[in-house]
Amino acid sequence: MIEFSHVFKSYDKNYVLRDLNFTVNKGEFIFITGPSGAGKTTTLKMLIALENPTHGAVKFLGTELQDLKPRDIPFLRRKIGFVFQDFKLLPNRTVFQNVALGLEVSGIFGNIIIKNVSEILKAVELYKKKDEFPLSLSGGEQQRVAIARALVQNPQVLLADEPTGNLDEETSKIIIDIIKSFNNKGTTVILATHNKNLINMGRARVIDITKS
Ligand SMILES: Nc1ncnc2c1ncn2[C@@H]1O[C@H](COP(=O)(O)OP(=O)(O)OP(=O)(O)O)[C@@H](O)[C@H]1O
Ligand SMILES: [Mg+2]
Repeated sequence: MIEFSHVFKSYDKNYVLRDLNFTVNKGEFIFITGPSGAGKTTTLKMLIALENPTHGAVKFLGTELQDLKPRDIPFLRRKIGFVFQDFKLLPNRTVFQNVALGLEVSGIFGNIIIKNVSEILKAVELYKKKDEFPLSLSGGEQQRVAIARALVQNPQVLLADEPTGNLDEETSKIIIDIIKSFNNKGTTVILATHNKNLINMGRARVIDITKS
């Protein structure tokens, strides 16, 4: 489903990734790991065409992403949900409105929004907080809003970038269990982290980008 083949990536002539190779099959759950600065976020960004490889190819469902036309990129991003390392929640929108945004930009409105957003907020146990603003939530709650926003369009793939960042072990486990429950229902998951405890909790295939 996903294939990185001989991927090199440099910023300003400094190479971050050198000859990265891996594949991910439909329905898999994998960890991408490596120390801070190794290129984990860069690797995930290439999958939604936020960055392009300097050399090599990144393929999703057989298509080379660097060949996509700008007008095709929104379609790619509907198929791949992204949980950003820094959440990127909009502070002046409620929890509900933050999650609804992805559907609105896809041209979905009305009762479908209410139904889908309510369902996903219940799944991440945040329905009661739907009318609150992000800054009044705990870190773990904000993280769950970001996950709900990424999943509300029912994407084929979920990319989660350090989704348990500064959270304690118990809250991290709750987040991992939520992500695993979606994986069990068929969503392919790629989770980037440098946290070894998290990797041990997840018990899934691990790709170390400094070695692959
Ligand atoms: N837009 C950019 N312009 C220039 N350099 C960048 C850019 N984005 C990332 N880099 C550099 O690329 C390297 C890899 O960054 P990246 O964010 O992918 O690492 P990471 O593995 O996600 O690290 P962390 O664990 O700290 O999140 C870093 O040295 C970073 O400074
Ligand atoms: Mg990162």
